[in-house]
Amino acid sequence: MKAIEFNEITKSFGDFYANSGITFSINKNDVHCILGENGAGKTTLMNILYGIHKPDSGKLLINGSEVHFNSPLDAISHKIGMVHQHFMLIEDFSVLENVILGNEISEFDVIDFKKSREIINALIKKYRLNLNIECKISDLNISQQQKVEILKLLYRNSDILIFDEPTSVLSPVEIHEFFKIVDEFKSEGKTVIFITHKLKEVMEISDKVTVLSRGKVTFEKRTKDEGLDLSELSRAITGKEETHSDPENIKNDTEGEVVLTMKDICLFKDKLPKLKDFEIRLSRGEIYGVCGVEGNGQNEIADLIMGFENNYSGELIRLTKKVSIIPEDRNKKGMIKEYSIGENFVLKFKRNRYVSDNQVRKISEDVSQNFDVRLSSVDSDLDSLSGGNQQKVIFARELTADNDIIILMHPTRGVDINASGFIHKKILEERNKMKAILLISSDLDELIKLSDRLGVIYNGKIVKEFDKSELNRNYAEGQFSEKNPKNKFDIYEKIGMYMIGLADEE
Ligand SMILES: Nc1ncnc2c1ncn2[C@@H]1O[C@H](COP(=O)(O)OP(=O)(O)O)[C@@H](O)[C@H]1O
Ligand SMILES: [Mg+2]
Repeated sequence: MKAIEFNEITKSFGDFYANSGITFSINKNDVHCILGENGAGKTTLMNILYGIHKPDSGKLLINGSEVHFNSPLDAISHKIGMVHQHFMLIEDFSVLENVILGNEISEFDVIDFKKSREIINALIKKYRLNLNIECKISDLNISQQQKVEILKLLYRNSDILIFDEPTSVLSPVEIHEFFKIVDEFKSEGKTVIFITHKLKEVMEISDKVTVLSRGKVTFEKRTKDEGLDLSELSRAITGKEETHSDPENIKNDTEGEVVLTMKDICLFKDKLPKLKDFEIRLSRGEIYGVCGVEGNGQNEIADLIMGFENNYSGELIRLTKKVSIIPEDRNKKGMIKEYSIGENFVLKFKRNRYVSDNQVRKISEDVSQNFDVRLSSVDSDLDSLSGGNQQKVIFARELTADNDIIILMHPTRGVDINASGFIHKKILEERNKMKAILLISSDLDELIKLSDRLGVIYNGKIVKEFDKSELNRNYAEGQFSEKNPKNKFDIYEKIGMYMIGLADEE
């Protein structure tokens, strides 16, 4: 039984075809993964399914009948729900208010909060979402906000659930929780569409995959039923014969000077301790990885080093002012969307000297070529680029700036595997130029691959440090293989236990 059929769906923006002639179907009760590089057209297709965009041509069938959606309300009435790549929540509203918004149970135009509260609390319990419905959205972390989005769909009784890159913002523990929820959906007969860049997740959770490239379907296969393996999937996505290879991580042996020391740092925000007895030493020529569940002090470390936060006790010695940063929330802090791509490139040095439009263009063209940013013109708005390419613009700007310390927060979040391999290569190059790099990430693969030392942060404190030899040994021994997919979880599980505070401090 087919839940969804896309039949020759085409959608253009101006003369650019985001979807062209897309035909495939999604079985009822499958977990169906959609994959493809940044800008391949995945979100566009999901926006069509959710009634946000109308296709230029082609047919969409739901449960066997053709539909014409004029807005998301039409999709919702067909029991389709979507969690967007960027959440759509009102920060000043409570969980309860966000969930019932637009779905109020009312009698004579008075919202029946009591009834809604009961229903929502029952759903929270059933799916173990662990949310307080009176909390304001602005007080929740990303994973909790995502749960509110999920709650919205459940409250509307959605049968077809679309998740656009839900796991790129989650830590391993949270991903595990999310997968449990997906399993629950499956056991209830729901259909799940799941967009991700992480191939191991695909192998773990999907029944079927569809790969898009430049707006077209390039690959389709059932995961277990048809024996899809990781290398075949990787080839299908990158279009390369050999599987995607990681850049080699060879470190030069020169001991670098310590450029940053933080000792006994305590930091309170709104009377809550955010960092306590925090210690770190960062030297030139090394990558120090910080890993932890989001909200354990990672943002505060970055703010302190950047000098945005002065209200702390303890010792902070920074031997240089030249610090580059890729912030966590690149949309809010890393760029100015209304500026052109070129203007965003030169944001960092425009303050100090005059730069002509021609220079801006020249510099941005050079950099975008060097960093493989796919753009039509550096004069277009930054907003016109796909998320992964926007990330590359910020990355390129920060890496080419004159710097000694580079703080990278989730540098490859939401970036496709080609681009993320590229970004990793550039990070290693900078390290080998004797830059001091602080890598804050929730992607354990990335951290293990790149870090020379890895600190696990829990409740504002580094509770455990792993050195490179320990990571390497464990990683090589436990290297993920198709024959033995569980093997790798040794070191992963070890780090994971520290991340959630279940292992004793050393
Ligand atoms: N509203 C829009 N206006 C103009 N171009 C768009 C719009 N939405 C998407 N695009 C373009 O369509 C292409 C596909 O985007 P998208 O579907 O978001 O890709 P994906 O989700 O696979 O990364 C991108 O090149 C993007 O710039
Ligand atoms: Mg997308």
